[in-house]
Amino acid sequence: MLPRIEVPSPRPSLQGEGGLRPRRDNPLPRERVRAERAGEGLATGRDHRLLAIYIHWPFCRSKCPYCDFNSHVRESVDEARWRQAYLTELDNFAAETAGRLVVSVFFGGGTPSLMRPDTTAAILDHIAARWPLAADLEVTLEANPSTAEAARFRGFREAGVDRLSIGVQALDDDALRFLGRGHSVAEARAAVALAALIFPRFSFDLIWGWPGHEVAAWRRQLGEALAMAGEHLSAYQLTIEPGTAFWREGVPAAGEDTGVALYELTREVLAGAGLPAYEISSHARPGGECRHNVAVWRGADYLGIGPGAHGRLSRNGGTDATRGIRAPEKWLAKVEARGAGLAERVPLTPPERREELLLLGLRLAEGVRRDGFRALAGVEPEDAVDRAALARLAEGGFIESDAAGLRATPAGRLRLNAVLAQLLA
Ligand SMILES: C[S@@+](CC[C@H](N)C(=O)[O-])C[C@H]1O[C@@H](n2cnc3c(N)ncnc32)[C@H](O)[C@@H]1O
Ligand code: SF4
Repeated sequence: MLPRIEVPSPRPSLQGEGGLRPRRDNPLPRERVRAERAGEGLATGRDHRLLAIYIHWPFCRSKCPYCDFNSHVRESVDEARWRQAYLTELDNFAAETAGRLVVSVFFGGGTPSLMRPDTTAAILDHIAARWPLAADLEVTLEANPSTAEAARFRGFREAGVDRLSIGVQALDDDALRFLGRGHSVAEARAAVALAALIFPRFSFDLIWGWPGHEVAAWRRQLGEALAMAGEHLSAYQLTIEPGTAFWREGVPAAGEDTGVALYELTREVLAGAGLPAYEISSHARPGGECRHNVAVWRGADYLGIGPGAHGRLSRNGGTDATRGIRAPEKWLAKVEARGAGLAERVPLTPPERREELLLLGLRLAEGVRRDGFRALAGVEPEDAVDRAALARLAEGGFIESDAAGLRATPAGRLRLNAVLAQLLA
């Protein structure tokens, strides 16, 4: 039976994006940068000394009708308090992870470009003072393309951000209005051009598959996107998430045929232009992948700092899952009162860890790498799935397994939720 199309959400619940290219000039204090690269440890996800850090900024100017991220609109934010809370929460993990090499810092949200650049700088300086930094460290910040935020781009660069990820979403003003975005196509173009001037690396997000989105229009928009793209582009299928305004209004998701046509076109056009999909929705020139997300998808350890942020930390041969308190003000109050904002820290059982590694790894074009899976889960990938389902899915052309590992084909990645449901039945 053909698995139903049901794309996984744009970002796995373990937040985070990945890249293997050495960063160019690192603006963080030189003496704190260790002359050491993340190297093959990151490539396999097996070196537990490596550490990624995810910082969640939970505020947005307005709530987009499709978005179910932990993002909130507030009239004002006491940034000095928030800054101190992030520093305190980082300190909570500093002793336990002392000496581990930080390979990436990812400011996600929410809209972290609403943060003041001096807050970003304070957080990065704090990290640099507590952990050794990889020479090829990647520091990404997600940004909205409104003019007001673009005015801060230079400040973020000076703070140490070397990769900007911009929420363009659409190159069509009617689509932007439908998606509830507060910016125009002209502003988005200007923001991308400015990012290309200021940052060594940049990416932008597009959403496809809104009601009435036609293949011919998407082909044209992909061409326009490529004309302004750098080494990385994310193209997400619009998903109607429970609890969002689109869900309440009954906005329909793209039909199956349209979904397949738009997905195939995206893959074909972007791969033809030298940016193949290295993950369901992420496209990059070789070496331009987002280092942070690739590390997370390969099962590396990462700290989750901020409201609702997830983290993974290995100790004593097992892995703990951490999660911050979701409500921003409750998280802030808890950090201020108790010095920590975690809602929970639980050891994952071996089956849970195996399932998670499959769930994350199969998003990637390279799939679950045999060496990495063995090192992190202690068994072969095939031992962690239903063998009969695996044979059926391989026969149907949705899964491949060989000496390198286990991977979903492009058709399998389009239906990953359904494929996983069968594999993990
Ligand atoms: C945290 S946002 C990026 C930064 C910033 N908040 C913004 O929206 O510009 C992460 C990305 O996820 C994508 N996204 C969020 N919800 C989505 C949904 N329901 N369907 C498809 N893409 C979605 C959007 O492309 C968005 O840019
Ligand atoms: S898509 Fe981005 S700007 Fe819109 S509500 Fe979600 S996090 Fe905020």
